[in-house]
Amino acid sequence: MSPPLLAVSDVSISYGKVEAVRNVTLDVHAGEIVTIIGANGAGKTTLLNAVMGILPLTGSVMFMDRQIARLDIEDRVAAGLCIVPEHRELFGTMTVEENLQLGGFRVSRVKAATEQERVYTLFPRLKERRTQLAGTLSGGEQQMLAMGRALMSDPKLLMLDEPSLGLAPLIVADIFRIVGELRQMGVSVLLVEQNARAALEIADRAYVMELGEFVMSGSARDIGADQRIVASYLGF
Ligand SMILES: Nc1ncnc2c1ncn2[C@@H]1O[C@H](COP(=O)(O)OP(=O)(O)O)[C@@H](O)[C@H]1O
Ligand SMILES: [Mg+2]
Repeated sequence: MSPPLLAVSDVSISYGKVEAVRNVTLDVHAGEIVTIIGANGAGKTTLLNAVMGILPLTGSVMFMDRQIARLDIEDRVAAGLCIVPEHRELFGTMTVEENLQLGGFRVSRVKAATEQERVYTLFPRLKERRTQLAGTLSGGEQQMLAMGRALMSDPKLLMLDEPSLGLAPLIVADIFRIVGELRQMGVSVLLVEQNARAALEIADRAYVMELGEFVMSGSARDIGADQRIVASYLGF
């Protein structure tokens, strides 16, 4: 098997003296959708943010065979890593298209134009609303815009933090369908979700996180089918 796209080894992350993530090890191969599921407060956001370089960590983060644990965020983006943060963090008083352009500011003008067309093909709704202010979009459209903006840097791995948060079930299905399409476009996905059922349906593999540690991992199908895991950790 080829080396993983992302290999996180023995990573711990602290807020001051409080250790929020302890010794986690995870990998994502090219073409995979991998999900981290777990209750509120488990440490999922902390882990994604640290892999992105927003928070410091101890341990190793290899991306495409290169140690990136000490790189700054910009260099991690340039290497092909991108995050859609939990709270989307759009610029509400700017238009849809301006938000997309900000996501593409690191790439050449020609490349940004290509990426923008790709985003509009994936999210026709964003194209329809390209002159609308981001702050006036519905929750689902805002999530699409946050994903579209991340895709503007042409990442190899997209990390999604709770894309279904606050969205109606029909919209969630739409967002998850698009996550599946991303894989077909050659983008691997690391998906963090409290909506374990939806995440397990789309993912290839899953890690279950509890109190800062991974307590289980395996194929998404096995994890979703294990009644004890479902009852103890996933609550559905
Ligand atoms: N900025 C912060 N300062 C201190 N503790 C934090 C901070 N952010 C999160 N935590 C704590 O770290 C733990 C993990 O939080 P988080 O990563 O947000 O979990 P999740 O995303 O799984 O809900 C929680 O106990 C939370 O209270
Ligand atoms: Mg979170």
